[in-house]
Amino acid sequence: MIRLGVVKVALFGSSGLLGDAVSRALAKRHHKSLLYSKQSTFGGAQALCLSNQEELTRKLLDSWPDAIINCAAISSPDTVNKDLSFSRTINIEGAVKLAEIASHLSARFLHVSTDMVFDGTASPYRSTDIPNPLNEYGRQKLEAEKKVLAVTEENLAILRITLLNGNSPHGKRSPHEKILRSIQDGTSLTLFDDEIRQPCSSENVASAVVELLERPNLNGLFHWAGSEEISRYELGIQILDYFGFSRNRIKKGSMEGYHARDSRPQHLGFELAPLVGKLTTNPLSVKEQIEELLLPEDLFRWHRQNADKPNVYVHKF
Ligand SMILES: NC(=O)c1ccc[n+]([C@@H]2O[C@H](COP(=O)([O-])OP(=O)(O)OC[C@H]3O[C@@H](n4cnc5c(N)ncnc54)[C@H](OP(=O)(O)O)[C@@H]3O)[C@@H](O)[C@H]2O)c1
Repeated sequence: MIRLGVVKVALFGSSGLLGDAVSRALAKRHHKSLLYSKQSTFGGAQALCLSNQEELTRKLLDSWPDAIINCAAISSPDTVNKDLSFSRTINIEGAVKLAEIASHLSARFLHVSTDMVFDGTASPYRSTDIPNPLNEYGRQKLEAEKKVLAVTEENLAILRITLLNGNSPHGKRSPHEKILRSIQDGTSLTLFDDEIRQPCSSENVASAVVELLERPNLNGLFHWAGSEEISRYELGIQILDYFGFSRNRIKKGSMEGYHARDSRPQHLGFELAPLVGKLTTNPLSVKEQIEELLLPEDLFRWHRQNADKPNVYVHKF
């Protein structure tokens, strides 16, 4: 059982966009974290592949955490498609193993899932709506949810989240980091103005995750997102404005005629009840999320020399 006060947490995926924010949120609340990632040692993480179930079990039985948080995943649909079998090992079997170990240790288990379990035809989605994933990533994440819930429904929360904004440790993972790097590389970037999302920020989700950790009475499957919907194109435009690039750096496209349309949900929005009424963390507007964004450090000089209005973006450190 979770004790009040400081909690010893084993955090998987701590070098990722969300995991890093969760790691910082845990530190702010003075919880003790044991950090794990696949290969990155960012923030003092131990490298441990979720496919290595023997070592995983040994490490967790040795350290006996009060809680396990799983932010590790093969989280890009394209990467999942490149190796379906290995992705299943991580996204499904790894998640289930963590749930089993947590159950064995009587540790609280928090697992992160995605809006991509839905097909995008009946937004906004409640957590009780029937999923229908369109791509293998969504199918794997859904199967993981079901299997984790089959291990235990006690002392467990699964949080489905939406497109994540934020600052990733390696500066390459989130929408603004990808947009800035595509401008730097001179790669033409088209975003769809009819692909609608309800983005959230990694910092804000991390705050919700830490609240879920500290509230063992909140168990089950929940939805979390930002407070507003926006098209991927419009999000891109707001990012360009914020970092001082002119709007013509991104081309406006449409999902009509897009060759992989059948595997990409068009409209994903979430109903945030009942969680939104129970947490003190509030969902953020798109503007609030964008104001949290930072230039990756290695892009400072390039930005100063290449932004259309370099003085618009004020570095906040
Ligand atoms: N990003 C989004 O827009 C989004 C939207 C909805 C839901 N989600 C969900 O949110 C969660 C976090 O996503 P994210 O975007 O933060 O992911 P991310 O930035 O891609 O980070 C993934 C993390 O998982 C670790 N990892 C990958 N393969 C592993 C393996 N074989 N063994 C152990 N660890 C492994 C990575 O370690 P290394 O750095 O060492 O490789 C990294 O720490 C995932 O469950 C994802 O499905 C994400």
